[in-house]
Amino acid sequence: MTTRKSIDVSSMPSVFVLPQLLNIYSAGRLGMAHKNAITVIPVHQAADRGALKKEFDAEIWDAIEAQRKDHVFTAAAGATRHLRINDRRVALIGLGADSADRSNLCWAGALAAQAARDSSSSTAEIVRGSIPASDWLQTAVHMAEGAELGSFTFQQYKNNPDSPQTRKRLHFAFADESHLTTFNRAVHDVVRCASAANFARHLANHPPNVINPTTLTQICRQLAKQCGLRCTVINFEQATRLSMGGLCSVGRGSPNKPAMIILEHKPSSSRSGPPIALVGKAVTFDTGGISIKPAAGMGRMKYDKCGGMAVIGVAAAAAMMNLPRHVVCVIPTAENMVDGEAYRPGDIIRMYNSKTVDVTNTDAEGRLILADAISYVCKHYHPSAVVDLATLTGGVVTALGGVYAGLMANDDALAEQLIGAGRAADELLWRLPLNPRYRKLLDSPHADMVNSGDREAHPIQGGIFLQEFVTAGTPWAHLDIAGVSYLKEDYRYLKGLQASGFGVRLIIEFIKSRG
Ligand code: BES
Ligand code: MN
Ligand code: ZN
Repeated sequence: MTTRKSIDVSSMPSVFVLPQLLNIYSAGRLGMAHKNAITVIPVHQAADRGALKKEFDAEIWDAIEAQRKDHVFTAAAGATRHLRINDRRVALIGLGADSADRSNLCWAGALAAQAARDSSSSTAEIVRGSIPASDWLQTAVHMAEGAELGSFTFQQYKNNPDSPQTRKRLHFAFADESHLTTFNRAVHDVVRCASAANFARHLANHPPNVINPTTLTQICRQLAKQCGLRCTVINFEQATRLSMGGLCSVGRGSPNKPAMIILEHKPSSSRSGPPIALVGKAVTFDTGGISIKPAAGMGRMKYDKCGGMAVIGVAAAAAMMNLPRHVVCVIPTAENMVDGEAYRPGDIIRMYNSKTVDVTNTDAEGRLILADAISYVCKHYHPSAVVDLATLTGGVVTALGGVYAGLMANDDALAEQLIGAGRAADELLWRLPLNPRYRKLLDSPHADMVNSGDREAHPIQGGIFLQEFVTAGTPWAHLDIAGVSYLKEDYRYLKGLQASGFGVRLIIEFIKSRG
């Protein structure tokens, strides 16, 4: 047997660790921005023209009116119109009919950042425009969120980036100075959460020759040090001793051995009581193993770590936002390879909770590493709820496409909370049933269960499998994010052909909603 050394990370391109803000956000009185700033005016379709008229000097008002009359600018969500009025540069941005819709607001923010980039000072002064005064605070906050998400690019492997990253200044104008403190506090949190989502996208975009279980462990250690998280790692030897048969079997075929990374956010002010546990699948590359995948599109299986990256993003966000909640994030990580040491179809393995699994398909690997992580976190942390995020099945892509993630849960209240948080964050969830009648799909003649049954109800088989590893009485939910974890094309404020960061904003919203 040859011994292979794992990869030396010091020779790798830098993977920056602490998520950084891409833009600078400020607020102040009208007219305080840079003199070359572009003026951004958000307009919604039901705009009260009287109010709008009061806000602006006559020239701008006339120009907006002319645009409207000619139907050049309809204020539909995503519409932008650049005008030059005397020597002022103005961008009108449409908010659509529903000016409270977070997706519309984020989109408008992304377009405002784009307008800033086009201006000579990289600065935009964003004014209230037709937004009712009582809504302006929330509008501005979510425009900042969208600006941060919309500014993200991933070009560090290009010698000639198509569009160099420029740091933009977005200045929000408030007539009422008493709103400034509230705005500054809210924007601080929302852009940190967005930058954590960008960080999750950044990690997920990296290729599998750079991010593997070994390097991911180092990145998490460094992240923890920088933002005050506790990081514990169960390495391959320890996992073997703990009899984590799922994690160890899946990762055995790679020279970069599997690990279980635990990132803990425990603020001193946290309410006592059990933590919230999050578990994220981080298969840094999924060849399918001996049950190998077809060649076409296999490179996209670098995104099989997206659940884990989202959970790392949540840990970073929780720390940067200093959320007053104890959150335990578990990231089982492995590389599913074809190799002489790889696990085989036909193997029977014993899991951490001592149940046995008859491996019928080495490509159904995600559930095996998640199962050990779920039973580990239940046993050692007694969480009030467990939520796992995983790119688990192609079946969920077939069923729900790129719009909704699949949600399965053993608890209705938890499911409802997650669906609500998803709606608020514009990261949508659709629930699938976990009826016990599906359990027979996993029956095995030789072991407690198979890891993959026949063709029926694949996403639900995944959920039913994982449920076997949740301690009885613990509310648990499974988010199958295979369809939403990376985008094939641009979506409003997210650039496509790359990881979406799905889950970070949703889970932060969820944690906040639990009080
Ligand atoms: N990582 C894949 C699921 C996946 C598919 C993610 C497409 C993103 C896009 C997972 O490990 C897998 O291979 N699932 C198999 C399971 C099957 C063998 C039971 C699937 O869904 O085909
Ligand atoms: Mn697989
Ligand atoms: Zn996979």
